[in-house]
Amino acid sequence: MASAGISSVARTTPAASSSRPGPVSSVSAEPSTSSKSEIVFSTADTALAILKEVGEMTQNIPYIKAVSGICIQILKIKSEVDLFRDKWKIVMADVERIRELIDDYYDQVAAAPQQEQKIPKDLQRAFKALEENLQTTLVTLKRCQPQRKRDHVLLFLNRVQLTTAIDDCGRGMQNALHLFNAKLNFGSRTDTARIWDAISRKVKILPIEDTVTVPDLRPPPETLFGRETEMLKIVTGILKRTPPARIAIIGPRGIGKTSLALSALHHPDIASEFPNTRYFVPCGAAETPGDLLLQMATALGIFDDGALPLEKKILASLRSVDSCVVCLDGFEKPWEKDTQTREVEELLAKVASIPSVAVIVTMRGTERPAKTRWTPFLDPLTPLSLDAALQTFEAISGKRDEVATRLVQAMGCVPLDVHALARLAQSEETSQIWARWEVEGTSMLDREAVRHVEH
Ligand SMILES: Nc1ncnc2c1ncn2[C@@H]1O[C@H](COP(=O)(O)OP(=O)(O)OP(=O)(O)O)[C@@H](O)[C@H]1O
Ligand SMILES: [Mg+2]
Repeated sequence: MASAGISSVARTTPAASSSRPGPVSSVSAEPSTSSKSEIVFSTADTALAILKEVGEMTQNIPYIKAVSGICIQILKIKSEVDLFRDKWKIVMADVERIRELIDDYYDQVAAAPQQEQKIPKDLQRAFKALEENLQTTLVTLKRCQPQRKRDHVLLFLNRVQLTTAIDDCGRGMQNALHLFNAKLNFGSRTDTARIWDAISRKVKILPIEDTVTVPDLRPPPETLFGRETEMLKIVTGILKRTPPARIAIIGPRGIGKTSLALSALHHPDIASEFPNTRYFVPCGAAETPGDLLLQMATALGIFDDGALPLEKKILASLRSVDSCVVCLDGFEKPWEKDTQTREVEELLAKVASIPSVAVIVTMRGTERPAKTRWTPFLDPLTPLSLDAALQTFEAISGKRDEVATRLVQAMGCVPLDVHALARLAQSEETSQIWARWEVEGTSMLDREAVRHVEH
C-alpha cells in the first residue's frame, strides 16, 4: 500500500506541480523546529495550507494522492496530541479507513488507461465533503494542542466545546466514509468491478442503509405461546456475542420455526441492540444458490448491478456493519438438493465466518447444515404443550371449552394445525368442527393449510 506523506506528494507528482506550479510544491511539510508542540503546530498548518491548494485540482489523479497524504499527516499529528486521546482514536480509525480506500482507488485509477483516469463528478463531490472534514479536523486537532501555558487554562475552560467539536469531527468522518463507500460502489466509473474488487478485499465498504432502501423487517406473529425456553436461549445467545450466535431452528412443517425466529428478531432486547440491522431472508422460494444470493441481496438492500459477483457484495456488506442479525428462513429449500448442498453450506459458512454477524437459520427436518458450528444449540422444536396450544386456540377463536381441548389434542398441538382449526372456530361452534373432523379428517385442514401458505 502506497503511503506517501504530503512532502513526497508535493515533490513527486509531476502532474500536480505542472498543473499548479508554485504553492503545492513550495510548501514544506518538514517541521522547522524540534519542540513537540511546535511540530504539531507547523505540521497542522502545513497540512491546512496544502489542503487549500489541492482543493483547486479536483479533477487530476495526483489530487487523490494529495488528499491521502493529508490523512496521513492527520494521523501523525494525532499521535502528538495528548488531549482527549480516546475520542480522537475513534475519529482516526475512520480517517485511516478513508485513507486506505483512497489509496486503493488511486492505485486502480493510476493503472487504468489515461482516458479513464478522470475522477467522476459524484466522486469529486465526495472528495469535497472529505476536504471540509479534514480541515475541521485539523483545526480541532490544533485546538487540542496547547502552545503556551495560558492555553492550558483556556483548554480547561473549553473542555465541553472541544469534546463537542471532536464528536462533530467523528460524525463528519463517518459521513465521509459512508459517502466514499457508496460512491465507489455505485459511481459512474467504467471499470467499477475491478476497483470494487480490489477495495472490497481490504476495507470496510457499503454501509447497508446508505445504498438502497432495506425492506422493512417482516412483522412478528401476533401470538407466540410456550416457546419461552427457546426464546431465552436465542436472545441470550445473540446478545452474548462471543462466540457469535449461529442458531438452527429445526423441526417439522408448521411447528413454529419462522414464528420463533421472527419473534426473536423483534424481541425488545434484540431490537434495541440491533435497531436497524436485523435482516430476514425468506429462502423458501430459492431453488438454486443463485436464487439464494438474490434473496439475501434483496433483504440486505443490495443492488445487483452485475458489476461484481453478488456473493462478494453480500459478504462485503455484512462485514461493513458493526453488528447485525441475519435470519435465513426456510433454508431447507436451497439446501436439500443434493447437487447444491455443498455450495449452499459453503455460502452459509462464509456468512458465519464473520464474527459481527449473528445467524439464525430455520429449516424443516432434523439435520443442520454442515461446516457451521451451531451455538447455542437448540433442540428440534416439538409440538406446543397442551396449555400453550389451548392459549393459541383461544387467542384466535375466543373459545376455550372441553371440545376445544379434544380438537387441539387431535391436532397433536402442532401450531399450524391448531391455528387452522381456531380460524374455523371463529365462525363455527367447536362441537360442529369436531363433528366435521370425525368425517373429513385432515382434508378439512388441508384447505386451511393452503390458506396459510398463500397468506
Ligand atoms: N408458539 C406459537 N404460538 C402460537 N402460534 C404459533 C406458534 N408457533 C407457530 N404458530 C402459528 O403456527 C403457524 C405456523 O407457524 P410457522 O409458519 O412459524 O411454522 P414453520 O415451522 O415455520 O412452518 P414451515 O415448516 O411451513 O416453514 C403460524 O400461523 C403461526 O402464527
Ligand atoms: Mg417457516
